[in-house]
Amino acid sequence: MQPRRLLITPLLLLYCLALAPAQISPGEQAYERYRAWFTQFPPNQQAAVTPEQYRAHLQSQGLSASAIDEQIRLIREQGPRAEAQRWNRILTSQKPSFNTNPNAFLVDMAKGRKPGTALDVGMGQGRNALWLAQQGWQVTGFDPAAAAVALAQKNAAALGVALKTEVTTREAFDFGDSRWDLILISYAGGREVPAQIERALRPGGILIIEGFHRDATRGRSIGGSVVFDTGEIPKLFPDLRVVRYEEPVSKADFGQEMVRLVRYCAQRPE
Ligand SMILES: C[S@@+](CC[C@H](N)C(=O)[O-])C[C@H]1O[C@@H](n2cnc3c(N)ncnc32)[C@H](O)[C@@H]1O
Repeated sequence: MQPRRLLITPLLLLYCLALAPAQISPGEQAYERYRAWFTQFPPNQQAAVTPEQYRAHLQSQGLSASAIDEQIRLIREQGPRAEAQRWNRILTSQKPSFNTNPNAFLVDMAKGRKPGTALDVGMGQGRNALWLAQQGWQVTGFDPAAAAVALAQKNAAALGVALKTEVTTREAFDFGDSRWDLILISYAGGREVPAQIERALRPGGILIIEGFHRDATRGRSIGGSVVFDTGEIPKLFPDLRVVRYEEPVSKADFGQEMVRLVRYCAQRPE
């Protein structure tokens, strides 16, 4: 498995700098470099890439054997924490680099629906969960980034709305059966646990996903879990009936550039 060649454009450098503040630990720095490398692999292969495969790349960069061992050790020991820390930094920044308003596709798809139970997968700082709660939905959200989830709870208290939250991952969360009238995955994956998500929707419930189209990765380092190929998402959920599917060029909520996105809304048949 070979990574695509990535053109280092001024745009890419700006993008990486914006997402990688200077004040981060050696483990987080090692992880950021590793992340910039593995995001060059095709989106659906990135989950299978291991730190050990990174060794040959570091050797080609001229690092000594001991420096390479140290990098691999840091990534192995601190990788998951560093990923959560990266999102804590981005999502709780005083100067947010993302759209802090609710996702426009969610607003469009939820409009006119009778509020029920909603689940926000990878909720971040809760911009979408809070909007749903304000519309009368009973919202649960989860995310491994603890500081982002704490900020969501703080904002819920300030707004006077209830939010159930968990600090956990989609791999560990118990989605349940026929439990949710709406499940949202906004820039937070979608191909990891599709059968659990289909089962977790109530009959008549809807799944809403927004992420990047693979075209958006040209010249940008974007984690593969939020990147999809043409027509990929509807095939992940064969038991759902598509309500709307589009791959428009539009302003992304994260990165805030005009790029190709994917927007998917589908319903579990009654
Ligand atoms: C680009 S942010 C999107 C946040 C939010 N959904 C929104 O639209 O504002 C991606 C989020 O996915 C979360 N995430 C990363 N790995 C995850 C996992 N394994 N399970 C659930 N969420 C995860 C990150 O912590 C981060 O909050």
